[in-house]
Amino acid sequence: MRILVVGGGGREHAIIKALKKNPDITEVFAAPGNGGIAKDATCINIGALEIDKLVAFAVENQIDYTVVAPDDPLVAGCVDAMEEKGIPCFGPRKNAAIIEGSKVFAKDLMRKYGIPTAKYETFADMASALSYLENAPIPTVVKADGLALGKGVIIAQTREEAKAAVRDMMEGGIFGASGSRVVIEEFLTGPEVSVLAFTDGKTVKPMVSSMDHKRIGDNDTGLNTGGMGTVAPNPYYTEAIAKQCMEEIFLPTVAAMNKEGRTFKGCLYFGLMLTPNGPKVIEYNCRFGDPETQVVLPLLQSDLLTVMQATTNGTLDETDVIFAGKHACCVILASAGYPTAYEKGFEITMTPEAEACTYVAGAKLENKKLVTSGGRVTGTTAVADSLEDAIREAYRLSNGVRFQNAYRRSDIGQRALQAKRS
Ligand code: AMP
Ligand code: GLY
Repeated sequence: MRILVVGGGGREHAIIKALKKNPDITEVFAAPGNGGIAKDATCINIGALEIDKLVAFAVENQIDYTVVAPDDPLVAGCVDAMEEKGIPCFGPRKNAAIIEGSKVFAKDLMRKYGIPTAKYETFADMASALSYLENAPIPTVVKADGLALGKGVIIAQTREEAKAAVRDMMEGGIFGASGSRVVIEEFLTGPEVSVLAFTDGKTVKPMVSSMDHKRIGDNDTGLNTGGMGTVAPNPYYTEAIAKQCMEEIFLPTVAAMNKEGRTFKGCLYFGLMLTPNGPKVIEYNCRFGDPETQVVLPLLQSDLLTVMQATTNGTLDETDVIFAGKHACCVILASAGYPTAYEKGFEITMTPEAEACTYVAGAKLENKKLVTSGGRVTGTTAVADSLEDAIREAYRLSNGVRFQNAYRRSDIGQRALQAKRS
């Protein structure tokens, strides 16, 4: 089997490492991949959004199965384009990827089908949004409709802040067309849980739950990032809550997408908040999360390719999706200064032990040396029988990954540990 993985971050590295456990896979290509992925796959110089080139490559190179990992090619219709040429793909078609591509769509879907989420209003013109904010409860949450590299959400503590966010999105165009419509929603509180689920449009098989750490600083302070670390499972996500989420959120979402004629196949990511009034959807993503994937897939015992193909073929009901009853922790190393300005080009070294469990994100090869090229550089994952041991081991192993100006949070997993103890 010849596999093409579209994307080039830590998530894609984790997907590739998991796929390669299948002995039937003879070659894995990554487009574009990165300097670290190059150790595990043949990287090709095609960007994730160059859909015509990706399809031509897949046809010419007899690719048997393509995995489209990032949101933007999914929203742009990469799966549709591959399928038109007869190449089976993991991921939703364009008309289903809209569940992430448009927050207005996602919110309206939840309202129509009674799926629990924050109360909200949507606006296509700025004057109405600003006048609504005169009386909206504060704090409030302003969201750009479209994809915004994870930065399109502003939690406004004051009316002025909320109005500034609306102006930036709708008039300043800081997110381009993504901000031409906005959602203004109720501020919710409670622990957050990420649940990634495989689905073939009929059956839903959730993966082990996880907890992201989105802020740059310890104790969840400072700016939002793409994610500075993760643990799995998430101790807040009890069996009773999982059952409730399956009945009230997961199955209704998949059914709703079918009713809308937008059958979703692939990985559906539920960003949940466990509020005092029950679990509510904060966001849907149409793909694996990053860095959730880096803790979830190391716990997957079933063969990843088999499960992915079952989502494509509609046979997920008869396919095992089994996770080890263990714990995983991933510690991200970032370039100091991220998520604002940072320097690049520092050489990265890894001990063999660290390299074996490190997923590379922002790095490229320069004169055969691996050098930093992005904000989040690596993620190192440890698996252990207890959460304590997984955290300790992930930090120990991440000491084996070195580059100048490396920054990591020192408290990944601590909130989960406290939750377990209380
Ligand atoms: P998103 O990009 O939709 O994942 O939002 C980023 C983060 O903003 C989430 O992980 C939450 O921490 C926070 N957030 C989003 N919506 C709400 C809300 N309605 N109430 C409170 N926090 C929110
Ligand atoms: N970790 C959050 C995301 O992938 O969107």
